[in-house]
Amino acid sequence: MENIILHPFAFIYQLIQWIIGKLLAPKPPRPGVKLGRPRIAIIGAGLTGVSAASHCVGHGLDVKIFEAGPRSHLGGIWSRVNNTSGLQIHSIMYRFHPSVQWKGGYPNREQIISQITQLWKRYGLEEKTKFNTRVERVYKDDKGRWIINNPSEGRFDGIIAAVGTCGDPKMPSLPGLSKYKGQVYHSSELTGKNAKGKSMIIIGSGASAVEALEFASNEEAAKTYILARSDKWIIPRNPVIDVLLSFNIFGGETMFSWIPEMLLKKFFYRDLQDLAPADKGLFTGTPMVNDAALEKVRRGEAEWLRGDIKGFTEEGVRFVVRAKGVPEGGPGKERIIKGDMVVMATGFDRPSLGFLPDDNFEEPYGPPNWYLQTFPPKHPSVCCNNCTYINAIGTVGNWHIGIYTRILICFMLDDLTRPSPFWMERWIDMTILLKRFSPTGAFDFFTYLELVWWFTFCIAINPFRWKWAPFVFFGIGAALPKLIVDAEDGVRNGLGYKTGDYDEGQSL
Ligand SMILES: Cc1cc2nc3c(=O)[nH]c(=O)nc-3n(C[C@H](O)[C@H](O)[C@H](O)COP(=O)(O)OP(=O)(O)OC[C@H]3O[C@@H](n4cnc5c(N)ncnc54)[C@H](O)[C@@H]3O)c2cc1C
Ligand SMILES: NC(=O)c1ccc[n+]([C@@H]2O[C@H](COP(=O)([O-])OP(=O)(O)OC[C@H]3O[C@@H](n4cnc5c(N)ncnc54)[C@H](OP(=O)(O)O)[C@@H]3O)[C@@H](O)[C@H]2O)c1
Repeated sequence: MENIILHPFAFIYQLIQWIIGKLLAPKPPRPGVKLGRPRIAIIGAGLTGVSAASHCVGHGLDVKIFEAGPRSHLGGIWSRVNNTSGLQIHSIMYRFHPSVQWKGGYPNREQIISQITQLWKRYGLEEKTKFNTRVERVYKDDKGRWIINNPSEGRFDGIIAAVGTCGDPKMPSLPGLSKYKGQVYHSSELTGKNAKGKSMIIIGSGASAVEALEFASNEEAAKTYILARSDKWIIPRNPVIDVLLSFNIFGGETMFSWIPEMLLKKFFYRDLQDLAPADKGLFTGTPMVNDAALEKVRRGEAEWLRGDIKGFTEEGVRFVVRAKGVPEGGPGKERIIKGDMVVMATGFDRPSLGFLPDDNFEEPYGPPNWYLQTFPPKHPSVCCNNCTYINAIGTVGNWHIGIYTRILICFMLDDLTRPSPFWMERWIDMTILLKRFSPTGAFDFFTYLELVWWFTFCIAINPFRWKWAPFVFFGIGAALPKLIVDAEDGVRNGLGYKTGDYDEGQSL
């Protein structure tokens, strides 16, 4: 803990986290305790997989984690990015498990990996993780239990796919790139690269581009150019503003969105309003969270250019600079941007969920058009946790990992709560209808408070789920519903009503 006198805010923050951990983190299983069924296969050992696994074992369910990479890939994408990477958003929005203890507001990659590793160890997940095992295929045996790759891995009752959204680095093949004499790197491989005194061309204008700009600045690059194909919103690195923005319960643009957009332009972009998107609203794409980028542009350290790449020359990039509002490929002024190194901040390939059975992808109920964006309607025992979202404001590493995991646990432990494909599809239809005026698809943009009405339509609508409400939302109070389920099961077994198939839902 920080010293209360020297760092009172950090002390209070740590104290609050400690209290949250004590109140809401499930107790790790005692060493040697044999966990029982239902048994859950977890695919991916990033922060989502590790957090979901620790919730499962903490509530008495056995798990096995399958990770495609080696042990050094524990922590997922964070194990594969630059040493200088860190959270852009405040860590209060990145509490991926109640027991996480951040020291400060903006932890770096090392601190994030350390928290993931501590969590993994705390919940005894070392012996339950199989590295170097890419999941290629998931299918059922004749009793309806899940098999991962092949039967030698055992049988599972449920699946949590936690494959993330950032897979291999994306390196586009741009015309004439082979002619270019300078160095070309992906934005995730800048550790150890020397940029001092050099001019750096960054291709792309997402969060990785902003991180590369910070790298250039730290390394004392002479000049940096950001070549943006499209405009994106940047929001301040201020937890109050960011939390407020994520409090849009409608999960999309509304008639009031002009208010935060206008405020951002006036007080944050100020003289650089030309860089704020004119053609897309704030609640249509993931914004970047950064204070320094605009400042660097103001100081002339960086040039932010909107336009299209025509190709490479030996010394740099032929670039057509477009004015605001001119669409991609539209007219503009061609410039040669010279640079000693090019950084492709062009994103990452999306990891595939193709290992799931084909009936999870049948239109119109393919991802992200799933129940709560997470459960494919044909399979209530499959939870694709934190990996189907497309854009979001807030963070992707937070509270909802636990919520979705506990919804799966509730479906597993109590078959009267498990929804039928029919009702899951109706919920999806309803959400599409409610969000029909949203400029993005109903499930293409996600905000935190949207979870509240998802929760209302998932839990409050079904009396069989009421008893699980505190558990699903906060992870507490599982004892009472378990007792009730045991009593119900006694009756239903006697009457021959219990199905025993964890993947068969019959409820609303
Ligand atoms: C540089 C960088 C900074 C970021 N900063 C932020 C931020 O500030 N705030 C924020 O909210 N988000 C941020 N993100 C987004 C980040 O992806 C998430 O926050 C979070 O780390 C995702 O965790 P995850 O466990 O869901 O996925 P990942 O960390 O991607 O882990 C998925 C794991 O699944 C494994 N896997 C995939 N497919 C298979 C398979 N078929 N079989 C077995 N294993 C498989 C992968 O090997 C990987 O280890 C950042 C991303 C990057 C690249
Ligand atoms: N610390 C952080 O918070 C942090 C840091 C890095 C990454 N992340 C997260 O990681 C994920 C990936 O971010 P990212 O910035 O790496 O990728 P990204 O958001 O997908 O952005 C990629 C950028 O590259 C551009 N691009 C792609 N292909 C191009 C091409 N052929 N020619 C020109 N431009 C091209 C895209 O333009 P268009 O937009 O026009 O397609 C976009 O501007 C996001 O979820 C992000 O939030 C977070």
